[in-house]
Amino acid sequence: MCGIFAYTGERNAGEILLDGLTSLEYRGYDSAGIYTPQSGSVKSVGAVSHLRRKMPPGFFGTSGIAHLRWATHGEPTEGNAHPHTDCTGDVWVVHNGIVENHKELRKRLEAAGHTFVSSTDTEVLTHLVEEHLTLLRQGSEGQEPENIFEKAAVAALKEVKGTYGIAIQYKHDPARIIGARMGAPVVLGLGEHENFIASDASPILRHTRQIVFLEDGEVAVITPEGHTITKIGGESVSRAAEQVDWNAEAAQRNGYDHFMLKEIMEEPDAVRNTSRGRIIDTDGLAKLGGLESVAEKLRGIRRVIIVACGTASYAAMAGEYMLEENARIPTEVDIGSEFRYRTPVIDEGTAVIAVSQSGETADTLEAVREGKRRGALTLGIVNTVGSTIARETDAGIYLHAGPEISVASTKAYVSQLTALALLTLFLGRQRGMSVARGKEIAQALRELPGKIEEVLKRSDEIRKVAKKYANTRDFLFMGRKYNLATAFEGALKLKETSYIHAEACGAGEMKHGHLAMIDEKFPTIALAPSDSVYEKNMSNIQEIRTRKGPVIAIATDGDDEIRSTVNDVLYIPETIEMLSPILSVVPLHLFAYHFAKQKGINVDRPRNLAKSVTVE
Ligand code: F6R
Repeated sequence: MCGIFAYTGERNAGEILLDGLTSLEYRGYDSAGIYTPQSGSVKSVGAVSHLRRKMPPGFFGTSGIAHLRWATHGEPTEGNAHPHTDCTGDVWVVHNGIVENHKELRKRLEAAGHTFVSSTDTEVLTHLVEEHLTLLRQGSEGQEPENIFEKAAVAALKEVKGTYGIAIQYKHDPARIIGARMGAPVVLGLGEHENFIASDASPILRHTRQIVFLEDGEVAVITPEGHTITKIGGESVSRAAEQVDWNAEAAQRNGYDHFMLKEIMEEPDAVRNTSRGRIIDTDGLAKLGGLESVAEKLRGIRRVIIVACGTASYAAMAGEYMLEENARIPTEVDIGSEFRYRTPVIDEGTAVIAVSQSGETADTLEAVREGKRRGALTLGIVNTVGSTIARETDAGIYLHAGPEISVASTKAYVSQLTALALLTLFLGRQRGMSVARGKEIAQALRELPGKIEEVLKRSDEIRKVAKKYANTRDFLFMGRKYNLATAFEGALKLKETSYIHAEACGAGEMKHGHLAMIDEKFPTIALAPSDSVYEKNMSNIQEIRTRKGPVIAIATDGDDEIRSTVNDVLYIPETIEMLSPILSVVPLHLFAYHFAKQKGINVDRPRNLAKSVTVE
């Protein structure tokens, strides 16, 4: 959801900023832009590659700011691309977030004579800083006030309502860049004679691993030789840098055509890394260091609410079934965007658990805050180390799935399910789950990565099935119990990467309406692993076949009989029922990938979407 990046140092800022934007591209790709005080600004509609092509020879600077836009206010045109500037061309701003009071501020600034050239909310920030520069000069009787740029920027930020992760540069103080955070992530990277500001660590890690995470309401100033952090009110903040271990190379495609395929192929490792060091086989226990500080509190929890959005919410759906069936804790799932608007009933006996790859999803974050306000214990199941949800929750479980770049989430999903399974083991064993059952879950978790590898070896077969249905415009995904979640995830992945109609329903819901859509042109992807609801699923599949609907089944190895009923079968290895969604989703991720790829769509960047949704 928009990416900002800023550099000040001794090297060529143009190259560093362009490279950094490429790593941030998963946040948005409606337009891109760059500014250095020495060479001015260049902007283009579309991806960073377009901007790169437009860069004039000799574009230079030793400091600068850059931006990738995911449009909220104003069309994705060059005029609306960041960086934006004021009437004088001295103040330059890149911004992720929304200035909620932009209309009134714009009206006031226009009345005072400022000329706006874009229809973005961000542009008001540039004119506000300009106005405060003028006011400060007026009050200083001809003497240039000390730190005028910082003072003007802070005064401007005090007037803004809404969210921002921002970097501001002033042409007449080129080595100094101001960053500020309110509701949208901002990190600082601390290097040798150079420093960075960015929306997340990904563009910085190739230069330095020393990362400082800004908090809401903080303003940072970077120069090549140092940085300061203060609260917007003026109080100074001292915060040590954290060593961030994500490897920049891990975020490259490594020879794969797309990040999505690379990340699906990384699903075995993602699951391995999520469970690494956390399974105690001999006692059938889960060791979750991130929950140690709240372990006693968790013993007394009477109810769990899992909050999440999109794919993460489907992981949460499967998590609900895991926790209720195995740990016997009443659990419900809430969509982040609904939670705080429906006045939920929460008390100290409730744990609100946020599931989020990015740890920055605004709706999930607000749901956590709502839970906190109402007295719940809050936990995060998060991939991005140091992200806002990770920091604002009382305790949590990191996924350790590695950076996920493709907009469509894949490896994070299987990691989220794995973390929820570990949590189930942890809470279940606190509550009377037998050692034998604990051991069974532990062993099945251990075996999962190898079994996912088995499914990945069948990628070619899955590609052939995707090809067979290449002209299909509608798909129904059907599942039951643990694999109802898989049906929703399969449908979402297909629609977001192929732009076709796909919907999901509980198998039992078919005859309550969905069955009416079925004919010979409307295939169903039926989740039918050999589990406790297999017979029920088979009856639903029969009902579809009777109406001539084609069926692609996801079934367990060895189920040869199903072949005679359905049109195509994609097999998965056997595992315990609770973990079956971790295997059954793998063919669906591959199916979505191959289906979209054959349409020539850039699956890593679905239109209209962004990886990290930091606006409501
Ligand atoms: C779909 C997808 C989204 C995210 C959702 C939540 O493939 O990636 O639905 O799952 O935006 O994102 P996180 O997990 O970062 O909170």
